[in-house]
Amino acid sequence: MTWWQTGMSNTRPSSTEDASATFDWFRNYSQIRDLLQELIPNKQSRILMLGCGNSTLSEKMFSDGFLNIVNTDYSSVVINQMAQRHSEKSMQWIEMDIRALQFEDETFDVVIDKGTMDAMLAVKGSVWDPPQRAIDDCNKEVDEATR
Ligand SMILES: C[S@@+](CC[C@H](N)C(=O)[O-])C[C@H]1O[C@@H](n2cnc3c(N)ncnc32)[C@H](O)[C@@H]1O
Repeated sequence: MTWWQTGMSNTRPSSTEDASATFDWFRNYSQIRDLLQELIPNKQSRILMLGCGNSTLSEKMFSDGFLNIVNTDYSSVVINQMAQRHSEKSMQWIEMDIRALQFEDETFDVVIDKGTMDAMLAVKGSVWDPPQRAIDDCNKEVDEATR
């Protein structure tokens, strides 16, 4: 079990003691909205969110008309909370390891990773000289996301 799975239940900024807590790593939707709109011109696109955490990115995108979003994270804590919080929206929240996605090939038009590969690289050692395990994890994610 990694920090992301153990730490999600008791560590800021991803604290989940308060089920309504949210945290947007690095950038929030308003800061990348123009870029996403440009890269995803079709609002009907089937979008896969990798490592959604308790970010507001998907809910803001949903409010902006991207109605076809499937969210994944391997933290059952955040997935359960996000599913509960957004139960009225037609988004899916699935506990899944992004290194072994359980979807058929070409299920999605767009795959978004915001801060998740960074998290996989932030294991012990330098991100500029990551251990082989981190490189393997990132390669698995890219292989899965591109099929
Ligand atoms: C830095 S947070 C980013 C959260 C969110 N995307 C954001 O931008 O705020 C990284 C997230 O990736 C998830 N994560 C890390 N490795 C994962 C893996 N192998 N499979 C699924 N989720 C993973 C963690 O549980 C955490 O929620």
